[in-house]
Amino acid sequence: MSAQSQIKRITAADIAARKGKEPIVALTAYDAPTARILDRHCDLLLVGDSVGMVVHGLPSTVGVTLDMMIMHAKAVMRGAERALVVVDLPFGSYEESPQAAFRAAARVLSETGAPAVKLESGRYAGETIRFLVERGVPVMGHVGLRPQAVNVAGGFRAKGRTPEERAEILAEAKIADAAGAFAIVVEGVAEDLAREITAAVRAPTIGIGASSDCDGQVLVTQDMLGLFEWTPKFVKRYGDIASAIDSAAAHYAGEVRARTFPELAQVYRFDAKAPQGPKPAKKRA
Ligand code: KIV
Repeated sequence: MSAQSQIKRITAADIAARKGKEPIVALTAYDAPTARILDRHCDLLLVGDSVGMVVHGLPSTVGVTLDMMIMHAKAVMRGAERALVVVDLPFGSYEESPQAAFRAAARVLSETGAPAVKLESGRYAGETIRFLVERGVPVMGHVGLRPQAVNVAGGFRAKGRTPEERAEILAEAKIADAAGAFAIVVEGVAEDLAREITAAVRAPTIGIGASSDCDGQVLVTQDMLGLFEWTPKFVKRYGDIASAIDSAAAHYAGEVRARTFPELAQVYRFDAKAPQGPKPAKKRA
């Protein structure tokens, strides 16, 4: 709770307690004004490393740095008062060792004020999750399609196609759960596998391209707003913001070229006797 606000922020423990109860509503957020709007509707805001693709135009999340995540997380914390803000640990900041992960997570918590992190959790991550949780860092796991592993996987393909792959993803979820993850993102897996994982783990599952039987859902906000050109199968578009921006920009450009913008309402006139004709085409002071 900030000094100015009486609103109590949802905690990682509150999210953990939602297992099997009212579905957890989550979206990604990367800036303060958007976070302020989403905060009214979401239980959890994820400062996802998807920011690299949907905001910075990178081809994958692999190029996202810890400094980028910290900058965006600070902005989201300024906008969101109520939702739990969870920050992705980016590629290269946590895989090497639990100690490296702790250093990265400690920077996130102390520099941004966000109370929790997420990491993409293959088998190796169990030790790291336990290390962080024991030292006071709430951790959300992430199994199934793991975008940071795109170079090994050879693309962003849904998972759970073979019995071996299904068994591996289920094992990864159980490992994250046993290590103390307060929630687990399940991304891009066969629907029945998502159901099986949800039934097998104590932590709530948050699905993205998974199943409506998960304990909650998350989407990349730019995807669901229709603001990112590539839409995976699992995205439902709830808005068409790209068209709204396009038509607003076209309207503006037309008015500038026709000199019908700015109008009287948008100009300063300090001298009542000043000529009221069209403004000369020169730069504002
Ligand atoms: O980075 C991100 O936005 C994510 C979601 C896809 C869960 O990890």
